[in-house]
Amino acid sequence: MDLTVTQPWADRHITERLAPDAQGIARAAELLRQGKLVALPTETVYGLAADATSGAAVAGIYGAKERPSFNPLIAHLPDLAAARRQGLFDANALALAKAFWPGPLTLVVPVSSACEVSELARAGLASVALRVPSHPIAHAVLQAAGRPIAAPSANRSGRVSATSAAHVLEDLDGRIDAVLDGGPTEVGVESTIIACLDGAPRLLRPGGVPRAAIEGVIGRPLVLAGEAGMAPISPGLLASHYAPAARIRLEAQEPRPGEAWLGFGPDGSDGPPTGPHLNLSPGGDLTVAAANLFGHLRALDTLRPAVIAIAPIPTHGLGEAINDRLRRAAAPR
Ligand code: TXA
Ligand code: MG
Repeated sequence: MDLTVTQPWADRHITERLAPDAQGIARAAELLRQGKLVALPTETVYGLAADATSGAAVAGIYGAKERPSFNPLIAHLPDLAAARRQGLFDANALALAKAFWPGPLTLVVPVSSACEVSELARAGLASVALRVPSHPIAHAVLQAAGRPIAAPSANRSGRVSATSAAHVLEDLDGRIDAVLDGGPTEVGVESTIIACLDGAPRLLRPGGVPRAAIEGVIGRPLVLAGEAGMAPISPGLLASHYAPAARIRLEAQEPRPGEAWLGFGPDGSDGPPTGPHLNLSPGGDLTVAAANLFGHLRALDTLRPAVIAIAPIPTHGLGEAINDRLRRAAAPR
């Protein structure tokens, strides 16, 4: 399969603004059934949604995001029963789905013989990534659309994920058919991705469900994809991703002259820095920090500093996902 996008994004029309009510939900589902692109709130980040069963609709996602290549996408379903029609669940996958769905967990499982998710959405793989989101609006749209819905984060390729409708429009206004404004997202980082393909479940991406919670359900430590000589199997997990225009300096103790500052926890005896600064959570709460992460990065980046210096973030709980996104933002491009 040719995995290169050759067409630049096609000219589109006005991006409709939809309200989070019955009418907005019905319109979003109608557009999706027509093969159109609609940005939707989920509990993690906003998703750029399209009919996963239509190769043409999925191609529109890659075009609007200007993705350089066709990464496989997550197919979103309203419930476990609908997900089980698309993929084959082993005992671990079933236990994880029952424990964390609806919620910020994605399971990569072998495709079922009845799988309707298009080859393009799966990038030709024999596995499929499935997620049942808990956001009530996402759930209502999925139910009304009545088919698997592909939805990567609703940002332009290489930019940080969108956690509000305003951030979606910053990147995609005029390139997509509609955005449904459900307010800021609650979790703030993307779903945890676990592969249940053969034997031990593997962690493909840390995210909204902390590792310890997953390990509690499967009853043993999670194997990290790429560890122990295993080939990484999540092609979308580029080292450089989620990148603001500014360079990122991690584990900083304080800003140097000219740097913008992203703090975490109390700002020390000298109080907040004098230059541009934001704090992910003055109280040192990782759940609050995850919810603020992408919005604060965008806000500081708007000021066009050469460097954003970032305080050390603890690595437990949601800290694993936060540190993963920060490392990607800091990776050489
Ligand atoms: O929270 C989320 O997961 C958000 C919301 C919108 O649901 N979605 C999201 O999608 O983050 P996206 O496209 O940005 O990330 C999907 C990831 C990619 O890294 C891709 O490589 C991986 O899932 N993936 C998808 N299908 C896969 C498969 N069959 N095998 C391995 N990795 C897969
Ligand atoms: Mg993304």
